[in-house]
Amino acid sequence: MGVAGFSSIPSCSSSSGSSFAVLIVVLALTLNGVTVCNGGKTSTFVRNVKNTEDMPLNSDVFRVPDGYNAPQQVHITQGDLVGKAVIVSWVTVDEPGSSVVLYWSDGSHRKKEAKGKYETYKFYNYTSGFIHHCTVCNLEHDKKYYYEVGIGHTVRTFWFVTPPAVGPDTPYTFGLMGKHEVVNHMTDLVSYIHHFMEAETMRVMYEAWFVRYKVDVVFAGHVHAYERSERVSNIAYNVVNGLCTPVKDQSAPVYITIGDGGNSEGLVTDMTEPQPQYSAFREASFGHAIFDIKNRTHAYYSWHRNQDGYAVEADRLWFYNRYWKQVDESPSS
Ligand SMILES: *[C@@H]1O[C@H](CO)[C@@H](O)[C@H](O)[C@H]1NC(C)=O
Ligand SMILES: *[C@@H]1O[C@H](CO)[C@@H](O)[C@H](O)[C@H]1NC(C)=O
Repeated sequence: MGVAGFSSIPSCSSSSGSSFAVLIVVLALTLNGVTVCNGGKTSTFVRNVKNTEDMPLNSDVFRVPDGYNAPQQVHITQGDLVGKAVIVSWVTVDEPGSSVVLYWSDGSHRKKEAKGKYETYKFYNYTSGFIHHCTVCNLEHDKKYYYEVGIGHTVRTFWFVTPPAVGPDTPYTFGLMGKHEVVNHMTDLVSYIHHFMEAETMRVMYEAWFVRYKVDVVFAGHVHAYERSERVSNIAYNVVNGLCTPVKDQSAPVYITIGDGGNSEGLVTDMTEPQPQYSAFREASFGHAIFDIKNRTHAYYSWHRNQDGYAVEADRLWFYNRYWKQVDESPSS
């Protein structure tokens, strides 16, 4: 089973993924049968709207670095499916500068060079800075690398550690932040009214594959709230036969909507009531998730609400791989 859903930034060639099939994609199951009863948990947490200084702009992560044209907002993304490439991204504001990344492994003194590209965009009267992306390829697994961006007096140095080689029992931790403007623009199995039934065409296209290949979990963004489903499928539904209520299906993925990294439209708080049966947990607030694959059978998933500046674990579940160990997880939440 593969791992899908990496971004479209130019990257190195790649092959298979981990034993847990994690899709950061899109899909909707619909529930026009209105047989809604006895759902899971709707969190009663209400975010304090006055206390919105979760990430103050003067904190060290946002502070603009000193020096003319110094690289800002430097961050990395995995650059291929196996973990041997990294995409380094940053912004320069005064002029394009250099899109080159110099990198070397810990203990080595020979710096290698990777050339990237930059782009800019306009939005009404706003013009962005110069946004650089540079893919560093052919790295070794499980190794610490240093890298430099910027030129002249404003070189900045950072480091990362590559993941271990892909294998059925290789541990791997994903950090997941859904953000409206970044994650795929579609909805999921959601019981938030604004987006209810929005992606029926996506469901028809992909759901049968998810079930056939026993995809463990599907993450999606877009809806500005958090929701986790039970393992349910709707594949019997063909529009005319009336079999339109999702049914429990241990080969179906768990759908997690995590469009809650923060956005300018505010939270979606109108939920269908009562909570539908397919919905295991939902909460109208912001946060991030961690998907911690331990080995071929076990992965620990947790969602952390951003509670007035602190990450509080609000939802959690042990995932048992659909291929190696089919266990019904639903009672444990
Ligand atoms: C952009 O336009 C808005 C409203 O039209 C205005 O308030 C703002 O000052 C403008 N910004 C710049 C940088 O011109
Ligand atoms: C897989 O990980 C789980 C959780 O850490 C552990 O309980 C289990 O024993 C592991 N299985 C194997 C075969 O190592």
